[in-house]
Amino acid sequence: MRLAVIADIHGILPAMDAVLDEISKENVEGIIVAGDMVSGPNSVEVINRLRQSNCWIIRGNQENYVLRLASGDAPDWQYTSKQWSPVRWTYENMDRETLLFLQSLPEQLIIQLPEKDAIHVVHGSPSNVSELIFPDKDISKLDQALSEVDESVVIFGHSHEAWVMKRNGKLAVNPGSLSMSFFGEQCGTYAILSWENQRWNAETRKLFYDFKSLRKAYIETGLLEKGDVIARCCLISMETGINYLPPMINYAYQKAKEAGYGDLPFVPDEIWHEATKTFEELNYKDNASELIFSLNNKITSSGRAPTSQHLHRTQVRCDESE
Ligand SMILES: [Fe+2]
Repeated sequence: MRLAVIADIHGILPAMDAVLDEISKENVEGIIVAGDMVSGPNSVEVINRLRQSNCWIIRGNQENYVLRLASGDAPDWQYTSKQWSPVRWTYENMDRETLLFLQSLPEQLIIQLPEKDAIHVVHGSPSNVSELIFPDKDISKLDQALSEVDESVVIFGHSHEAWVMKRNGKLAVNPGSLSMSFFGEQCGTYAILSWENQRWNAETRKLFYDFKSLRKAYIETGLLEKGDVIARCCLISMETGINYLPPMINYAYQKAKEAGYGDLPFVPDEIWHEATKTFEELNYKDNASELIFSLNNKITSSGRAPTSQHLHRTQVRCDESE
């Protein structure tokens, strides 16, 4: 038996379609989805593809962010700050049925197939949906995570790094990100789990898809404009294979701290604007900088976003406690 494992699709439809096409030729009997399907140009379409496929799906932190906005219980700054504009855009362009589907998903899942070892699926870690585990940098976090579950196979997501590790008698797998893998190559990654000789084995795969379509999707849906600097940063990161997002956000928080806002959970708009502008000028090099500073011009000559179906904040209630 073979299963595909994917995570961190982030609304990138060409990646979703490419992997469905690829695994349809691989005699795969199901797909495990380890969260973060949304927050990108085509989140609803990606969810619809998954709903039409034979999948086990959990929520990631991005789904939780959108559901929290939908619940009406998010902190005020998430409804107003520039920093949160891509998440708001995702929420405002999501229909009620999709929100209810996301709400129905668990944050973790145990898959028990007949006569096979159970598989435990998490997004970040068993104790924290947003925890980042990088085994090559800090193996103790992986050991801790594996000790928190009984199952002998654990699937992780969130970090965008693809790896397979056998550790303490368990098999740990991160399929990486289907849409954006940050090792300097234009590709996503996923994994294949195979039941052979009475145990699960795993291998990671690269997924090549039409990266040229990314910019078009970001522009035509309106995300590039409405998602502000984070949307630009995600796009440039995908196009270059260099993840600019964590350093940009860290830089902005550092500037907020220096300005006396170290206690806030977000960066005030004025500081956010100045810090991210400086970051972009300092860090996007060569072709990337030409691209980034020409993008705004291209927005005006390209298609506009469809009218968003604005959802009332209280339309969907969300029970998660994060
Ligand atoms: Fe994530």
